[in-house]
Amino acid sequence: MCGIVGYTGHVQAAPVLMDGLERLEYRGYDSAGICVSDGDAAHPLKALRVKGRLSALREASENGKAVPGLSGIGHTRWATHGEPTVENAHPHLSGGKVAVVHNGIIENYAELRVKLQGRGYVFESETDTETIAHLLHYYDHGDPVDAIVRTVMHLKGSFALGILFEERPGEVYGIRRDSPLIAATSPEGSFIASDVPAILPWTRNVAYLENMEIVRLSPEGITFFNLDGEPIEKEFTTVSWDVEAAEKGGYAHFMLKEIHEQPKAMEDTIRPHIRDGRIVMDELGMSDDEIRGIRHIQMAACGSAWHVCMTAKYIMERMARIPVDVDLASEFRYRDPVLEEGTMLMVVSQSGETADSLAALRYGKQQGMLSLAIVNVVGSSIAREADRVFYTAAGPEIAVATTKAYSTQLAACVMLALHFGRIRGVVDDDTYAAHVEALLKMPEQIREILRGEARMQWLAGKYANTRDAFFIGRGLDYASVLEGALKLKEISYIHAEAYAAGELKHGTISLIEKGSMVLAVATQKDLMEKEVSNMVEVRARGGTLLALTMEGNYDMEDQADFTIYVPRTEDVLYPNLVVVPLQLLAYYVSLSRGIDVDKPRNLAKSVTVE
Ligand code: G6P
Repeated sequence: MCGIVGYTGHVQAAPVLMDGLERLEYRGYDSAGICVSDGDAAHPLKALRVKGRLSALREASENGKAVPGLSGIGHTRWATHGEPTVENAHPHLSGGKVAVVHNGIIENYAELRVKLQGRGYVFESETDTETIAHLLHYYDHGDPVDAIVRTVMHLKGSFALGILFEERPGEVYGIRRDSPLIAATSPEGSFIASDVPAILPWTRNVAYLENMEIVRLSPEGITFFNLDGEPIEKEFTTVSWDVEAAEKGGYAHFMLKEIHEQPKAMEDTIRPHIRDGRIVMDELGMSDDEIRGIRHIQMAACGSAWHVCMTAKYIMERMARIPVDVDLASEFRYRDPVLEEGTMLMVVSQSGETADSLAALRYGKQQGMLSLAIVNVVGSSIAREADRVFYTAAGPEIAVATTKAYSTQLAACVMLALHFGRIRGVVDDDTYAAHVEALLKMPEQIREILRGEARMQWLAGKYANTRDAFFIGRGLDYASVLEGALKLKEISYIHAEAYAAGELKHGTISLIEKGSMVLAVATQKDLMEKEVSNMVEVRARGGTLLALTMEGNYDMEDQADFTIYVPRTEDVLYPNLVVVPLQLLAYYVSLSRGIDVDKPRNLAKSVTVE
């Protein structure tokens, strides 16, 4: 997500920090800032922050000359709490005594904020990070390691931190939990960074911090501490990656990196919304009466986000008993839709800038509809214009073919459906509790699927030369195959069609011949028998049949030529699991065919024209 750089040494810090941040630009950001210590323990720390590009930071700091000093921290921010503004940009300060940069999400920040306000702290931003700055200030009694330990004990969620203390000029501190942080040494000084590319011009000698390890950079060198404040030894390794490989975290492509980021993206999207077994949607700002008043949901989106809507329709109708219609955003406003009172418009968009989705939102608002957007980019046009916003926490997505944004959008829809269903009194307590538990298990289940990656790679190699592929499924599995087929065709250029399995015999089955690849997704218990009959029909026409089903459903092997399994979960959560092997299949087929996976021909990541 965001980028962190920290430095201390014997060259000017500001240019080093800005250069490091520029090397993390590929991660995406919307604002940036630095804080440099001038070396005088009596001078309050000051931050320089800008909205927009790093070039603006270079300008504001006169290329670093305006902020002299030999140690400092810097940050590029990808907004999660609060819009991309100067006030919300990092570093965040507390009383000029502590400055902090943060990657990750503090789940209990609202609670901490109230407590800190009670102790007299005044907040200048809407961020979760500012709570960390004030906590550090509160616990700082001259021992930085102790202040850090006491602070992190209060934090729920994920963090990588870079910290300066006014009274410790020349020192930079760092700590992490579930967000990466490295430390590095060079003859010019020492560094912390969220990612390897930031430090590559200076050194290849890095140490990877483990969860809850603390690092102190000082002119004398690097020291690591455990949570008891005791110094610990850490091994340094030599990075052999070139800059390009380093940007991709060692993965061959951004798409593969983003596929592997899904467990974390899911955790970051789900966990902040679950407290004590309950789904909490405070940030949505929808009152219970407003939720009870919804009589109909109209969804609109483009591309994969439209597939999310197709999935959400099944889930919302089942869990919340609200009728849902789904339109392609480019069609919605031109069909003169009948929008009765009590209709809520839901727009799903990773970028929040897709022209048709934005136009659909504006059209719905003109018609007087309440609007709710599921968006990944904070402060984007759709996020700003929708009445209610649910932010997914996928972080910046760089590959054109969406993966982690799609998964987090699905998770958002499940949580909204359960939340609405509970408030409307249509989900019983046991079902609700079982689904909340299953949601919390999903990140680990996705990790488990990713451990089986080699099998998908092998399978992709076998079918890389297929001319036609058919993806079939019933119910929610139909919604999943829409995405599976799109993933394959957009990055492998293989003709692929998604069909509701029961509809196959009304036409497309005539296309199936020896050598056609048919992938059947079968996870819905109530539809299993019917789906198996459809699979048998395909096999009888000579198609090669691949089945994607859940563990334990081993009878499937009697029907299919090859079977892929995902862990068991609740019916409505399978789309979130089956999509992972489908993404891997598409990725490895594309790779075998020598296609530029991250930038397939004719496609753009964000389509801002109609
Ligand atoms: C483009 C991308 C798709 C994406 C669609 C909608 O076509 O290639 O991956 O699903 O736009 O984008 P959005 O940003 O609105 O989710």
